Amino acid sequence: MEDNWTGTSTVPSRGLYPHQWSWDSAFIAIGLRHLSPLRAQTELETLLGAQWGDGRIPHIVFNPSVPLDAYFPSPDFWRSSTAGRAAGAPRTVQTSGTVQPPVHALAAWLVHRADPGLSRARGFLAGVYPRLAAWHRYLLHRRDLGGAGLASVVHPWEQGMDNSPCWDAPLARVAPAPARSFRRADLDHGAPEDRPTDLDYGRYVRLATDYRDGGYRDGGYRDGPGAGGAFAVEDPAFNALLIASEHALADIAGELGATGTARRARAERLTGVLIERLWDPARGMFFCRDLRGGGLVPERGVSGLVPLLLPTLPGEVAGALVRTLSGPHFGDGTRLVPSYDLRGEAFDPHRYWRGPAWFNTGWLLERGLRVHGERERAGALREAMLDTADASGFAEYVDPYTGEACGAAGFSWTAALTLDLLEGRDSHDTGADRSAGSNRSARSAEAAGADGAEGGDRG
Ligand code: SER
Repeated sequence: MEDNWTGTSTVPSRGLYPHQWSWDSAFIAIGLRHLSPLRAQTELETLLGAQWGDGRIPHIVFNPSVPLDAYFPSPDFWRSSTAGRAAGAPRTVQTSGTVQPPVHALAAWLVHRADPGLSRARGFLAGVYPRLAAWHRYLLHRRDLGGAGLASVVHPWEQGMDNSPCWDAPLARVAPAPARSFRRADLDHGAPEDRPTDLDYGRYVRLATDYRDGGYRDGGYRDGPGAGGAFAVEDPAFNALLIASEHALADIAGELGATGTARRARAERLTGVLIERLWDPARGMFFCRDLRGGGLVPERGVSGLVPLLLPTLPGEVAGALVRTLSGPHFGDGTRLVPSYDLRGEAFDPHRYWRGPAWFNTGWLLERGLRVHGERERAGALREAMLDTADASGFAEYVDPYTGEACGAAGFSWTAALTLDLLEGRDSHDTGADRSAGSNRSARSAEAAGADGAEGGDRG
């Protein structure tokens, strides 16, 4: 993490991802808070400094001193300051025009809890709150493409699990851009068998080009069915993180002297909508809804387990998720939780999001297990993650059976979340820890005016 720090933010990895990434920065801040609460605050402030006028937080903030050919798609592809002008893209910093999962309010709350004194002295929460509120407004309004209240992603890069088999059907309708029209930079740093295919990239490029050429406008539900681009999906992990972050925003509002009641109520209502729209009781997990093709995508991705994070999930839903997590599709002989169904036809233990285990999803599930009182399972997952992170050289992702390293080495969020698992042990053991500050113990701590949630984290 020291090596990957640039002075104002942290790159995910020096070679493969040499700029600032949105959800990476949120996970990185969660670990960085244990080393330097000031750096963790700065990490989030730098990202929020690149927010667009319409509220979106871009998925990449480009570092102008990095050569254009070091990463594709580069700033001259996105052209944010011109193509994104109507959407309020910043003029001075270049960014992508897509977004990533909204982990930020959760991260901001956890960063605050690590050193409330420093946070208050710097006005950290007062500074980030309006920006985080605008971000959630953007997602809940401009991105409610299905009209039910959930946010949609319009590109697989937005959901973060780029080449998940969950996208195969929705992406099949997208005509790929010709391979000769762009040059992939990722293959200079990652093994081709660990990365998405050229065909995937052709489709990513087509979707991003069309979005850019439409001025990054979002065709909302009210603009009529089918308004917007060819790809629009309601994803369980993206929405679960949005809901967890709404709970965190309620906590932040409370810290700033407001009540946060309306936000808390909205988070609970959205949990209900998530179940109505994406839950499959027969298969015991959540699925993606393809708004263009209609209906749930039948592929089992780890994204469908991430809602375990939500504190107000009904007991039978949480119980079914725990069983699915340890059952034949995700838990059969593995060390860590795979990104995709072990029994799925498309399963590949090494290729990016088509099977390997990732540390951010592991961290979210470990947290979800604790939220629902599954301490033993959470402890076992935590131990496996700590062992594998260390043995793999803090790999970007690993073979879920063997723990063999894949992708980039020295990956920032792997290191950050490892630190968080190590530092959080005391509070885990006492049960004082709380995620979005939204479970019963956090609420009672809040009600008592105590510095309860995450208070044990610093040991
Ligand atoms: N995950 C994408 C990449 O591999 C974009 O964010 O570059």
